[in-house]
This record gives sequence, C-alpha cells and structure tokens, in this order.
Amino acid sequence: MLGLLSILIIALELFGVTSAFTVAEVCQQLQKKFSAQILTPGSSNYTDEVDAYWSLAAWLEPPCVFTPANTQELADGVKILVKTNTTFAVRSGGHAPVTGLASTNHGVLIAMTHFTEKKIVGMPNALGAPYFRNGAANRWGEVYEYLEPHGLAVVGGRIWPVGSALLLGGGISYFSQQKGWASNNVVNYELVTASGSILQVNAKSYPDLFWALKGSSNNFGIVTRYDLKTHKQGKIFGFDRAWAPTSMSKFSEAMTSWMAPGGGHEDKKGALMPSTQYTPASDRLDPSLVAVYDAPVENPAAFKNFTDIANFTDLGTGVQNLTSLVRQTIGYQARVFRWKWYVTSIKFSNETMPIVIDTMVDVAKELIPQFNGFVGTAEEPITADHLAAARANGGDPMDLDPANGGVFFALYYAAYTDPADDDKAENYLQTLISRVESTTKAKGLYYPYYFFNNLGIKQEPFKFYGGGKSLPKLKIISKKYDPLGVFQKLVPGFKLGTGALDGA
Ligand SMILES: Cc1cc2nc3c(=O)[nH]c(=O)nc-3n(C[C@H](O)[C@H](O)[C@H](O)COP(=O)(O)OP(=O)(O)OC[C@H]3O[C@@H](n4cnc5c(N)ncnc54)[C@H](O)[C@@H]3O)c2cc1C
Ligand SMILES: *[C@@H]1O[C@H](CO)[C@@H](O)[C@H](O)[C@H]1NC(C)=O
Ligand SMILES: *[C@@H]1O[C@H](CO)[C@@H](O)[C@H](O)[C@H]1NC(C)=O
Ligand SMILES: *[C@@H]1O[C@H](CO)[C@@H](O)[C@H](O)[C@H]1NC(C)=O
Ligand SMILES: *[C@@H]1O[C@H](CO)[C@@H](O)[C@H](O)[C@H]1NC(C)=O
Ligand SMILES: *[C@@H]1O[C@H](CO)[C@@H](O)[C@H](O)[C@H]1NC(C)=O
Ligand SMILES: *[C@@H]1O[C@H](CO)[C@@H](O)[C@H](O)[C@H]1NC(C)=O
Repeated sequence: MLGLLSILIIALELFGVTSAFTVAEVCQQLQKKFSAQILTPGSSNYTDEVDAYWSLAAWLEPPCVFTPANTQELADGVKILVKTNTTFAVRSGGHAPVTGLASTNHGVLIAMTHFTEKKIVGMPNALGAPYFRNGAANRWGEVYEYLEPHGLAVVGGRIWPVGSALLLGGGISYFSQQKGWASNNVVNYELVTASGSILQVNAKSYPDLFWALKGSSNNFGIVTRYDLKTHKQGKIFGFDRAWAPTSMSKFSEAMTSWMAPGGGHEDKKGALMPSTQYTPASDRLDPSLVAVYDAPVENPAAFKNFTDIANFTDLGTGVQNLTSLVRQTIGYQARVFRWKWYVTSIKFSNETMPIVIDTMVDVAKELIPQFNGFVGTAEEPITADHLAAARANGGDPMDLDPANGGVFFALYYAAYTDPADDDKAENYLQTLISRVESTTKAKGLYYPYYFFNNLGIKQEPFKFYGGGKSLPKLKIISKKYDPLGVFQKLVPGFKLGTGALDGA
C-alpha cells in the first residue's frame, strides 16, 4: 500500500514544483533513496559535517545533510530538492566565514565531502592543455602535495586547508601576477544544474556558462570537479614571517614602496600575502607576511625592503618546494574562533597603507576598545600585471581593467569567541568599511569593487563586475540555465539580485 508521502511524491512528479512538504519529510524521502548518504542529528557523521566550518559562527543545524557519493546521486538529489521547493545550501572547504552562505538552519545541507578525485591528464586531450581533475572536496594543500612529485602545480589557493570554492570567486594565487585569477586557469567544470543535468562546461561546450562560473559563485549550479591547467613547477624562494610591533612602520613603508612605480611588484615572479593583526585591548599591531618568488633565487631584489626588516619570527625562509611553504599555513585548519570579515578596494598610492592601518586602529579604539578578541587586515595588492594576465588568459565576469592600475583589496576581519560579540563585530566592520570609503572617495583613491572571496554578508559584489556590464549578462545566463530561479531563491549565497540569501 502506498503511504501518504508516496502519493504526494507521485502527485508532485505529475504537477511539477510543490511546497507541500516540510524539510523533515524531504529528508525522509532522500533517506529512502540515498540511505547512508543522508545524515541526521545525533550521529557523529552529522556533527562532523555541520561543524566543518572554519568560523564557529557558521556551524548551523540543518534538519539533514546530504553527502552524495558521486555526481549522479547529486543530480538525482537536486531533482528531489527542486521538485519539493526545498532550500539547500552547498559546502566544499567551509572556509568562507560568512554565516548562512554555505550552511542552513531550515533546509538541506549538501556537503561535497566525497568528491575527492585527483587525477593528472596529459596531452593529447580534448581540452587542448594538460590538466588536473580536482574534485570539489580537495584542499589546496592536498592538491599541491599530490602534484609535486610529478613536478607540477596549478594556479590555486595560498593556504593549505582552504577549499575549491575559492575558484568560484576568482581566487588569488601565488602565481596570479603571471597567470591571473585562479579561475582563469580552469579549462572545464563538471556542473550539476537546477534541472539535475550534468554538464561538462568549457569554452567550446557552453562558453557563456564557462565565463559566468569564473567568478559568480553558486548562482548557476553545483560544481563537482574543476579541471585545472597544470604547469611545470620547480623550487621557489619563500618565507613566512611575523615581525615585532616595533617593525610596523617599516613594514608599512615596504608595502608602499613595493606598490610604487619601479617597486618590487614589477617583478611578476613575486607574490605577497601580508596581514596585520590589531589587538584593541593592548593597542598592539602585529605585521606578518608570506612571500613567494617563483624561481630558486635566494632573497630576490623584489623582496629586499621586507627581508631588510629586523625583529621577526620565521616559519621557514629559503629556496624550497611549494608544498613546504604552503604546509607552513596548515594551522588555518584550527576551528577556534567566530570570524567575520568585510572587504573594500583602494587604488595603489603612497597613502593606501596609512589609510588602511590608521582607519582600522581609529575605528577599533572608538567602537571596541576592550574587544575580547582581535581584529586585523589582510592587505592584498592586486597588480595591473595580474589583471592583464586575467584578460589574456580568457577573461572573467569581474573584468577589472588593467589600464586603471593596481587595486588594493583591504580585507578587514574580527575574531572572537563569545556569540554575544557578533553584533559588535558586525557594527565595527561595517563602520570601518564606510569610514575607509569616505576617506578614499575624498582623496580620489576609491576603487568601486568588492572582491568576491572576502565579502561580508551585507555587501553586493555583482554591480561592480565589468564596470556594471557583467550583471545583465549574468542574469540572462541564469535565466537560460535555471529558468525557475532555483539558485536565486532556494540556495543561500551572494545572489544576482540584491544582497545575500542567508540560510541562517
Ligand atoms: C584562512 C583563509 C585563507 C584564504 N586564502 C585565500 C586565498 O589565498 N585566495 C583567495 O582568493 N581566497 C582566499 N580565501 C577566501 C576563500 O577563497 C573563500 O572563503 C572561499 O569561498 C573558500 O572556499 P571553500 O571551498 O572553503 O568555501 P565554502 O565555505 O565551502 O563555500 C563558499 C561559497 O561557495 C559555495 N560553494 C561551495 N562549494 C560549491 C560547489 N561545489 N559548487 C557551487 N558552489 C559552491 C558555497 O555555497 C558558499 O556560498 C581564504 C579564506 C580563509 C579563511
Ligand atoms: C518556493 O520557495 C520559495 C522560497 O522559500 C518561495 O518564495 C516560493 O513561493 C515557493 N514556491 C512555491 C511554488 O511554493
Ligand atoms: C561516517 O564517518 C566515518 C569516518 O569518517 C566513515 O568511515 C563512514 O563511512 C561514515 N558513514 C557515513 C554513513 O557517511
Ligand atoms: C619538498 O620538501 C619537503 C621538505 O623539505 C620534502 O620532505 C619533500 O620530499 C619535498 N618534495 C619534493 C617532491 O621534492
Ligand atoms: C625599496 O624602498 C625604496 C625606498 O622607499 C624604494 O625606492 C625602492 O624602490 C624599494 N625597492 C623595491 C624593490 O620595492
Ligand atoms: C626589536 O624589538 C625590541 C623589543 O620589541 C625593541 O626594543 C628593539 O628596538 C627592536 N629592534 C629593531 C631594530 O627594531
Ligand atoms: C605621495 O605621492 C605623491 C604623488 O603621487 C607625491 O606628491 C607625494 O609627495 C608623495 N608623498 C609621500 C609621503 O611620499
């Protein structure tokens, strides 16, 4: 005899989308079809999945978690979720510290955990370049460690435990000055769309969708695998240093001269990943820097102004392989704080660093002088060469014009443990962004752009893409591949309409 649930399912098979089911009922239906791949509260596997987020504030409680074993299961599951009009969030590495964008309290969480493929594909092949099949679950450190014995690397993330969704927001790599955004180096995506179709998306098969995926996150489907162009990788020079607070002004000056015409940025083999932590309660600034030079050259001239600064702790300086440098960042696996962040953009100038640091300190002293945690900024200088390489390497919807010069992304974060400080942190970050922007606007240094991978929950990135020209195209592509608007209405994330859809 058919149960009521089965009759309803048959009814919806006949009549299309329905919202007659609670999420709990949809979870039961999924469980009938996928049994062990559906995790529910009370099991340790469920807890592992719902807590697999770098920011503790992103640990939500979905009624169930779907961990598809393969692409076909994912596609079949998406069909059920769409037919029952069920909210579903998608997570890969869980490193985006934005609550409610990669998990949900009132829908199904799809965890990409089982998509662990790693495979090198040489020439000749249909895509016309040697590539690496990178399953969505892989961390950048695992990718580099897999490729290194073969003398290969890909253009990917800079920190060991970060996940593959970095590619869906463009992605800053140690190789970006030479090869553009990480996403410019994807040659094919395997994508599950809203209709449950499985597409191989590349420049030949679906050029519009291929372009859109290079920076528009989860607005078009779920990526199961990224085919990434490989390159031959030899040894690098690198260091990972934290300076004493007394060295802050020297660090800031070195950053300024690196960005100036004739400065270190003009050597495209070099890449900087700087950050400055500020602890309001002790009024202490701690600058640090990971630097990578893509050749086996000790202390290259491009980094001289940094290597000249005294008083540092060193996690490993010298000519080394890429994985030994990336392994120095494995500590970012630790899940110990609630994190929030926001980002803005500033033109390169000799005032950029002072504005970025001084405004942070001023606003923190004003709003959160006794903050029980720390704040800081990751200074991300994106050179005109990086932007030119992005265009030369196939382009993307962000399409920043190298003729406008370099752009400095100021990522501001707050780290703390007490949920009662969520509002304080949010208010501090929003105030700080608007304070920086009013200063840069007054000085002619404002750059209208929000870097996708560093967005805060209230920020709207797409209006700035391509100087405003990309968003109308992205909306047309969304209508074409997702006519019901599933990824606009049911899937949390930064959406093509206004603002973010929040699963919390
Ligand atoms: C310590 C640290 C270091 C970082 N370093 C860098 C860096 O060097 N360069 C850089 O560019 N960025 C960097 N980032 C930012 C990072 O790229 C983003 O946070 C990115 O979203 C993380 O990818 P993830 O797979 O871990 O994300 P998740 O948190 O799993 O997902 C982020 C977003 O992508 C969506 N998504 C996830 N998987 C899929 C999928 N398979 N298909 C469709 N949508 C999906 C989610 O729904 C969510 O909206 C860093 C972040 C941290 C915390
Ligand atoms: C589907 O869900 C969305 C978001 O919850 C809601 O806005 C919409 O009205 C629902 N559609 C139907 C047909 O119930
Ligand atoms: C639960 O997790 C364990 C350990 O990670 C794994 O071996 C097992 O297959 C998982 N079970 C399910 C149902 O996912
Ligand atoms: C990379 O360096 C580490 C540490 O020195 C070493 O253990 C490893 O074997 C090296 N890998 C290769 C492929 O050279
Ligand atoms: C180092 O700093 C000096 C002084 O500011 C500057 O002239 C020089 O260009 C800098 N060198 C590099 C490689 O950035
Ligand atoms: C190094 O740090 C110590 C203690 O923080 C400080 O007294 C000293 O002046 C610093 N030296 C230099 C060269 O900055
Ligand atoms: C900053 O640069 C401007 C020109 O771009 C120059 O006039 C000014 O003197 C510089 N200031 C400092 C402190 O170097």
